[in-house]
Amino acid sequence: MQLLKYLQAQGIGSRKSCQWLIENDCVAINGQTVNFPKQEIQPEDVHTLSIDGEPKIVVPLPYFYILLNKPAGYETSHKPRDYPSIFSLLPDQLRELDLQAVGRLDADTTGVILITNDGQFNHRMTSPKHKVDKLYQACLKHPADDHFCQTLLNGVLLHDDNEIVSANAAELSTPTTLLLTIREGKYHQVKRMVAAAGNRVEQLHRLRFGDWNEDGLAPGEWKFIRADEKIENKRTKIYLKS
Ligand code: URA
Repeated sequence: MQLLKYLQAQGIGSRKSCQWLIENDCVAINGQTVNFPKQEIQPEDVHTLSIDGEPKIVVPLPYFYILLNKPAGYETSHKPRDYPSIFSLLPDQLRELDLQAVGRLDADTTGVILITNDGQFNHRMTSPKHKVDKLYQACLKHPADDHFCQTLLNGVLLHDDNEIVSANAAELSTPTTLLLTIREGKYHQVKRMVAAAGNRVEQLHRLRFGDWNEDGLAPGEWKFIRADEKIENKRTKIYLKS
């Protein structure tokens, strides 16, 4: 990949500004100044990148995968209406790139969300056909019991929807804390399922999406992840549908 294209793909700037930076000796890769725009770069060999001596993020290419621990009060949208966008939690350099959220979380929902520039991965993770588990922790308004969990496992008819959706796993860790695993990603699905079963979600947190959990990230923190970690449904016995 040519240096000029590489810098653009890193979110450093426009073609024109990257060309200027290269030709004015502002760019260093692995500590070496590089000043020929057509120089061939092997992205996997780049460990450090700096502009004017300032270290930049080295974005994995061609595809990158970001795990974000979403705080409350952010919208999963490039054009948010009422709250800031989740993308505003990322550094400016990354915001220059093609960022796609993998599914959505409501503004008041917290927890694991993935962001990528890989459309195929996005489709694979969100299509119901691929059966990717999403585990949520929901704080309920009213104490619930096993019957409530069984209702969710058996399936509920969502308001304004003709389809019955069922949980893949449901258990209570306290009478008002529900651990719910679903595989679809319908609009407000957890809140609507809980409402259809006669309760109400007061707070919602996604603990896991496919193979990924928050992995020590504080709310608002992010990191690059590798997507080739196995995407499989790891469920312990307690989460298995009875
Ligand atoms: N279900 C919901 O109701 N809200 C979310 O944000 C995610 C799943």
